[in-house]
Amino acid sequence: MKVTYYGHACFSVQVAGKTLLFDPFISPNALANAIDITTIAADYILLSHGHEDHVADAEMIARRTGAMIIGNFEVVSWFAKKGLAKLHPLNTGGAFAFDFGRVKFVNALHSSSMPDGSYGGAPGGFVVETKAGNFYYSGDTALTLDMNLIGEATKLNFAALCIGDNFTMGVEDAIKAADFIRCDHILGVHYDTFPPIVIDHAEAISKFREAEKYLHLLSIGAAHEF
Ligand code: NI
Ligand code: MN
Repeated sequence: MKVTYYGHACFSVQVAGKTLLFDPFISPNALANAIDITTIAADYILLSHGHEDHVADAEMIARRTGAMIIGNFEVVSWFAKKGLAKLHPLNTGGAFAFDFGRVKFVNALHSSSMPDGSYGGAPGGFVVETKAGNFYYSGDTALTLDMNLIGEATKLNFAALCIGDNFTMGVEDAIKAADFIRCDHILGVHYDTFPPIVIDHAEAISKFREAEKYLHLLSIGAAHEF
C-alpha cells in the first residue's frame, strides 16, 4: 500500500487499484503550499469528522475527481446539501464492503461540527481491510481502551495516528494506542500545522523507538510503501 502525505491529517492510500484520500485540508494549510490540489487523485474521500481542518478541500476534490465521499451520516448529509451525489454514510460501529475492501467506522473520542457550525454527528476513525493489507486511521481522538477491539479484530499493516497533542492524542498516548491496536508501523498525523501542536520530530521518533515501534513522519508530498 502506497501512502502519500499531504500535510496535517491528510494522506492518500493506493490499494486494490483505487486511491483513498483521507481528510483533505491542503489549500488552507500554509505548510502544504507546494501541493497543487488540482493534481490530487481520489476514487474515495474518507472524512473522519466535520471539522474544517479535515474537510476543507473535500468538495472541490470530489467535484473534480468524481470521488465518492464516505463519512458519518451528518457529514455526508452536509455534502448532499451542496449538491454532491456520490456519497456513502456510515455510523459508529458500522462497516460496508466497497469494491476496494471493507471499511468500518470506529469510535473516536473528540467533537464534530461542520465548518458552518452545524451539527457534525459523531467523530470516528476508519479500519480498512483489503486483500493487499489492512490499516487504521484514528481520526482526531483521545486514547481510548476501545482501541484494543481494533487490535483484537484486525491484523494491521500500519496505522495513521494523531500525535500532535492539545486537540488529540500526543506522542505518549499514541504509543499506548499503537500497543492497543497491536501495530508497530505508525504514520504520524495532526502535528506541526498550528502553534499548539508543533512537536519535536527527533524526540517523537526516539520515544517510539524506545517502545520498539516505528514512527514515520513523512515530508509533505512524500510517499512511503507500507
Ligand atoms: Ni477535529
Ligand atoms: Mn483536527
